Amino acid sequence: MVGLIGAMAVEVENLMAQVEGKQETRIGMDVFVSGRLFGQEAVLAVCGPGKVNAALCAQSMIQHFHPEWVLNLGVAGAGENGVSIGDMVIATAAVQHDCDTSPIGDPVGLVSKINLVELPCDAALREKLVRATGVLENVNVHEGIIATGDQFINKGEVRRRIHDQFGAKAVEMEGGAVAHACYMHGVPCGVLRSISDQADGHSDMDYLTFVKMSADHSVKVVEALLRGLAE
Ligand code: ADE
Repeated sequence: MVGLIGAMAVEVENLMAQVEGKQETRIGMDVFVSGRLFGQEAVLAVCGPGKVNAALCAQSMIQHFHPEWVLNLGVAGAGENGVSIGDMVIATAAVQHDCDTSPIGDPVGLVSKINLVELPCDAALREKLVRATGVLENVNVHEGIIATGDQFINKGEVRRRIHDQFGAKAVEMEGGAVAHACYMHGVPCGVLRSISDQADGHSDMDYLTFVKMSADHSVKVVEALLRGLAE
């Protein structure tokens, strides 16, 4: 079984609608939809925005369904000028840009307890995701750091700080938390994002305009990934 987590309904509802032999499992306030999706046993959830929602959902998914990997999919803001609306970003690793215990001597971004700044993403899954992006025509694909924090980024200077600190190619609110939960349970993870806005002064309007188109890009890539696994 594989695990798929999106923050918002728009990021996973199209996939959920295609699950065959659908079962719903409620754990706390999370609802998990499981069944067969494009030839794979899969479990899907909408975790809600933000790191705590994402980590709790990922942990419940892992403990209840034991997925072989968990993929966080959806939309993100661009982390730098070379990344544009509609582009795909696949994480080599995720960071939590809002973790900062540097006043007491830690590197910025250190996630205490597991003592990592970069939360690893599975290289084999990433390779399959890159291959699966072949279904999208005229879409640029980037691999690199995805930065997560409990903020919707809508200021160029904040985006610049996150990029300068971590080299982030995309900014969002859940990937680093899913990667954190997966790391703590020894489960491989991936983060796949399609860019909905530039994380600048226009990002609120751009997000609303492009969220559906961008979310559809990552859904198409996941479909290709699962179909590819079934071959
Ligand atoms: N998800 C999509 N756009 C985002 C942004 N600008 N900041 C944080 N998360 C996002």
